[in-house]
Amino acid sequence: MPSADFTGGHPELTLRPGRAGDLALLVALEQRLFGSDRLSRRSFAHFLRSAHAALIVAEIGEALAGYALVLFRPRSRIARLYSIAVAPENGRRGLGGTLLEAAAEAAQGRGSSCVRLEVNERNGGATALYHRHGYRLIGQRLGYYHDGSTALRMEKTLA
Ligand SMILES: CC(C)(COP(=O)(O)OP(=O)(O)OC[C@H]1O[C@@H](n2cnc3c(N)ncnc32)[C@H](O)[C@@H]1OP(=O)(O)O)[C@@H](O)C(=O)NCCC(=O)NCCS
Repeated sequence: MPSADFTGGHPELTLRPGRAGDLALLVALEQRLFGSDRLSRRSFAHFLRSAHAALIVAEIGEALAGYALVLFRPRSRIARLYSIAVAPENGRRGLGGTLLEAAAEAAQGRGSSCVRLEVNERNGGATALYHRHGYRLIGQRLGYYHDGSTALRMEKTLA
């Protein structure tokens, strides 16, 4: 697991692989943050077990502060950042960026050459975060989300 560079106010931050015992807290965080298009308990349980997923959990003390989920496909060098979330009380302190970098490191560690993602065009905060971390716009998917809004497709090439 990559070493966290996020210490601002939270020297006790830990990044680690998710485990089965995180399931309830992951589901609770997801319900707090996403109105629709959220990951179900069943999906989290699947990804926590899957050899084709890296679920990175950020813990501050005993609390689940955020997570990033990266998916891999056999024989593909394109990794997909499937979801990323930071608990609101820890927002705007660099944790999203730290998780994003950890996700890219995990992808690189598995031999991926790039990371792709989709972000709701209305999600200006996340889009700014991705731009800031080297993601560029490569396209869009109209009506991709449950509410009919468009997804921006972004990609970052890994060194
Ligand atoms: C998007 C999210 C992961 C960002 O996490 P975070 O820990 O707040 O992000 P950071 O502190 O690392 O932000 C780094 C930069 O990203 C941009 N950014 C992040 N959130 C922003 C917001 N709400 N509005 C504007 N810019 C934002 C800013 O440039 C920020 O730098 P700054 O704070 O110096 O201005 C978090 O807000 C979140 O979980 N949102 C709900 C879930 C979600 O939308 N996930 C993405 C789905 S694709």
